[in-house]
Amino acid sequence: MKYFLITYATKTGSTKKVAEFIALSLTNKGIKTNVLPMNEVTSFNDYTGVIIGAPVNGMQWLPEAKAFITKNMDTLRTLPVAYYLLAVVLNGGRPFFVNKLSKAFDTSSQIVTPVTCGFFKGIITGEPPFILRLIFGLKKDIPKAIENSKEIQDWSEQLIELM
Ligand SMILES: Cc1cc2nc3c(=O)[nH]c(=O)nc-3n(C[C@H](O)[C@H](O)[C@H](O)COP(=O)(O)O)c2cc1C
Repeated sequence: MKYFLITYATKTGSTKKVAEFIALSLTNKGIKTNVLPMNEVTSFNDYTGVIIGAPVNGMQWLPEAKAFITKNMDTLRTLPVAYYLLAVVLNGGRPFFVNKLSKAFDTSSQIVTPVTCGFFKGIITGEPPFILRLIFGLKKDIPKAIENSKEIQDWSEQLIELM
């Protein structure tokens, strides 16, 4: 029976919410899941697959994610693994930055090759600071919630075939 670990790093909580939504999407399809922050993962014994999520800060996938993958690479290489990121620039930001995100998983993928990668719209609580909007070319009214995202649900469901 499939049993997926969904592990995340977060600064402001939205990557955790996405982890929980991925878990819900999989549970609704009969897949057993466990959601844990990366610093609480002590064993991979029971899992048949691992989903690893972190936000983009300073146009980089959070370094904690790469550190987690490096630390556990021997085990992760024996399991199907998927990566996901959250980036606010995906809310209609400048193509220059959106295109840069395609490289966000490169070094981690060289350490452990994922079956697939998810790119999800990041959340900023409150109004995004002017400087952030200016640099990334964002509008004021970017979405404040990720729950019930069809995009994330579809991505989660295709993992059942891939992993
Ligand atoms: C300090 C900081 C830096 C960020 N840098 C970027 C960035 O370079 N590019 C981007 O698209 N989003 C950036 N964001 C937005 C986050 O990726 C987005 O808000 C995400 O949903 C945050 O995830 P978290 O709540 O799990 O920390 C940044 C957010 C913070 C707080």
